[in-house]
Amino acid sequence: MMSPPDITRASRDEISALQLARLKTTLKRAYERVPHYRAKFDAAGVHPDDLKSLEDLAKFPFTTKEDLRQTYPFGMFAEPLEDIVRLHASSGTTGKPTVVAYTQRDIDPWAELMARSIAAAGGTKRDIIHITHGYGLFTGGLGVHYGAERLGCTVVPISGGQTERQVQLIRDFGATMIVGTPSYVLNIVDEFERQGLDPRECTLQRGLFGAEPWGEEMRQELEARLGIIAMDLYGLSELIGPGVAVECIESRDGPTIWEDHFYPEVIDPETGRVLPEGEPGELVFTSLTKEALPMVRYRTRDLTRLLPPTARSFRRIGKITGRSDDMLIIRGVNVFPSQIEELILKTPRLSPHYQLEVSRRGHLDELTVKVELKPEFAAAPEEVRQAAAWELKHHIKSLIGITTKIEVQDVGSIARSEGKAKRIVDLRKS
Ligand code: DLL
Repeated sequence: MMSPPDITRASRDEISALQLARLKTTLKRAYERVPHYRAKFDAAGVHPDDLKSLEDLAKFPFTTKEDLRQTYPFGMFAEPLEDIVRLHASSGTTGKPTVVAYTQRDIDPWAELMARSIAAAGGTKRDIIHITHGYGLFTGGLGVHYGAERLGCTVVPISGGQTERQVQLIRDFGATMIVGTPSYVLNIVDEFERQGLDPRECTLQRGLFGAEPWGEEMRQELEARLGIIAMDLYGLSELIGPGVAVECIESRDGPTIWEDHFYPEVIDPETGRVLPEGEPGELVFTSLTKEALPMVRYRTRDLTRLLPPTARSFRRIGKITGRSDDMLIIRGVNVFPSQIEELILKTPRLSPHYQLEVSRRGHLDELTVKVELKPEFAAAPEEVRQAAAWELKHHIKSLIGITTKIEVQDVGSIARSEGKAKRIVDLRKS
């Protein structure tokens, strides 16, 4: 089905009609071309013809990372390998990686969607875009790259690492837009300061941040220290990569989902029930146009809410508060790294470089927060460290309700990542 001229500003009826038509095609493709989907639909007693309305999607079984693992590497592909032009893979924390595939008719819309995302974030062909996401099997680098080229930007495909050189090239080339994980871009900001340069004086105006959870405090930190407007870019390999949803520059109120390509639901992670708009739960997506790897009700594990449209006609997601698999349960209290991050960023003498270590003493789990002092306090006396530790411990106790051990460490002592930051070290598993 053809989309109206600008589907991002179409009426809800037009959007729903397009989604229903595309959903039918997706379910049919999945059922007819992927034996794993056929077996799951049959076992659940559903057939693609049972989808008469968008609500009927709730009858269909979920897909999880486990399905991709069971069919590793190519078992979920709906196209023969000769028509697949690209593979990407995500490393995953345990076991086999997840492999995803694209036909040329997947690569083209991906580039379009990423171009649309950069444009929604205020980018134009006049931008010099500095892409720090890793190039390679990770979808971040190449995904953003194709979109930026499609929009006509001047692309600097620097990838991650070589942080000193990143600073030099941002300055020499006059980059106006930066794309990366918030944690890695903060390393670049640190490097500017280490070289005695004021990052706010560089040419950067806007940034697109994603691939890991980050909260409003992190946004403020990036905006204040880098002198830019920071926007949120969301995506996941199983659906396409970056470019599933993006924050629009005129509203900056949570990523707008490109609903003409991805159909969102938010479910109760315990019961699987579809939740009404606005209620927090797990984000689930069905791809509407993917050829090589159709995804039916994929459980992202990302926790957020569906929000009504603002800058475009499509719905939005709230900030991802965490992943259900990142949730720590410390003496019965559920804690997400993002909650601790928020409190660290509110503690004036502490930097946003941190790691959470979970260990077990007897039968009880313990949480140690390892966090660095800000460079300007590096030479401060021991009392300053202790005061910062006490302040953070107190905030965590009174706002989250758990007792933690705080280790305030020297600048540079916590491992820096070049991509997604590793926030949790779980000593219980070793
Ligand atoms: O991280 C794709 C991507 C690349 C998105 C570059 C944005 C920018 P995966 O490696 O498959 O793909 O990881 C997907 O990362 O389920 C979320 O848990 C997390 N994530 C991605 N974007 C955001 C974001 C890419 N904006 C997983 N906010 C997702 C919070 C995010 N979490």
